[in-house]
Amino acid sequence: MKKTEPLLLRRVAKMSNPASVEEFIALDGFQGLRKAVAMDKTKILDEISIAHLRGRGGAAYPAGRKWLHLYHIQGAPKYIVCNADEGEPGTFKDKILLEQDPLSIIEGMLIAGYVFDSPRGFIYIRGEYRPIQKIFQEALDNATRAGFLGENILGIPGFNYAITIVSGAGAYVCGENSALLNSIEGRTGRPRVKPPHLAEVGLYLQPTLVNNVESFACIPAIISMGGQAFLDLGTKDGGGTKLISISGHAKNRGVFEVPLGTPMRDILYDEAYGGGTSTGKPIGFCHLGGQSGPIAFPEQFDVLYSYQALWDNDLALGAGALVVMDESVSIVDYVRRVAEFFVHESCGKCTPCRVGTTRLLECLDLFVSRKATLADLERLEKLLLHITRLSACGLGQSAGVAVTSALKYRRTAFETVSSGREVALG
Ligand SMILES: Cc1cc2nc3c(=O)[nH]c(=O)nc-3n(C[C@H](O)[C@H](O)[C@H](O)COP(=O)(O)O)c2cc1C
Ligand code: SF4
Repeated sequence: MKKTEPLLLRRVAKMSNPASVEEFIALDGFQGLRKAVAMDKTKILDEISIAHLRGRGGAAYPAGRKWLHLYHIQGAPKYIVCNADEGEPGTFKDKILLEQDPLSIIEGMLIAGYVFDSPRGFIYIRGEYRPIQKIFQEALDNATRAGFLGENILGIPGFNYAITIVSGAGAYVCGENSALLNSIEGRTGRPRVKPPHLAEVGLYLQPTLVNNVESFACIPAIISMGGQAFLDLGTKDGGGTKLISISGHAKNRGVFEVPLGTPMRDILYDEAYGGGTSTGKPIGFCHLGGQSGPIAFPEQFDVLYSYQALWDNDLALGAGALVVMDESVSIVDYVRRVAEFFVHESCGKCTPCRVGTTRLLECLDLFVSRKATLADLERLEKLLLHITRLSACGLGQSAGVAVTSALKYRRTAFETVSSGREVALG
């Protein structure tokens, strides 16, 4: 199995006070920042591109491309926003960084602040992480006292930067980057129509960078070790290691760090990671990426856990959630639960999602109660197509992903719970 020393978790449980600047520095903290401020800004951008860091918030967009785009946009001030909403069910990997290594996130945001001459960064932390917000604020205060935030940082004239925490209020859709910016501005947390791109018209209509917690935490490591070394930890389509959140029926539940390219079967069964199931029953399926991701079935478990390999096999890494279910769980019941989540979280702005998610749930209810017919199966497929293709934002576009993969790989499960009233099912 591909194994490596932890990179992002290397300071976890090693500091008596994770908000302490002294302890952070003693464990190589701020080395990436110190190196970055001695580099040409375009060289920093080159290293991030070479590292092939894909955004860790779920969409997997290359960070190098995003940073370069913003760099070439005219306009000031530019704002830096860290997405710490972590609303995807089954995902709790940002929590460990926020709680146990907050200064690594601050360091990543500082490097961004330096590259984009930004006066201000914001971190949007989910409301449920209230105790963690306190730890993060303490880290910000300590960094300010030590001269890493504020004016003339590291003695560099004009390097002025502050970071503000904004607390989320519990809506899943507020993790979507444009809804998140609306929420920071005090507006209703609903997605904006795009384009314009947030790099052009973002927070307070200014050019804005939005990256995930884990993405920011990777930046100092990339600058310290070099983009190529970071790339080499993973695969050529996505460098580095990935934090994964394992939950459900897995024997070992928690956050683990895996090199990208590790076989998924190892992640699910190796004692160093998931370790199989706590029930002793075989794994029936594994939901990747949280509620918005596809479902992996045992015949797909030999796929490598890398961005491209998963895409090539109808799967996706998302933000790194692996919700393990043993074979006692009915796939039809499971995806009905997923559909219920999206009905609850749809913001209601566009009809295909607002109405479509409710119709999807109603349709799945027929299968769960064994009242569905073959016509309902066809209706289900059409609904999925409409919701996915016509919804305005990523929430609606991914609301049917789990049901779609269940239908593709376990169609018979839906057929056997159909009554066959209208047409006999073969
Ligand atoms: C409904 C929805 C919820 C999302 N929730 C989160 C979240 O909690 N955290 C996150 O980082 N990205 C989330 N995203 C992705 C963001 O829109 C955006 O792609 C991400 O913050 C960009 O950072 P990255 O490129 O570093 O991944 C969500 C997207 C959607 C559509
Ligand atoms: S897809 Fe859903 S969450 Fe997104 S804008 Fe439309 S109604 Fe709102």
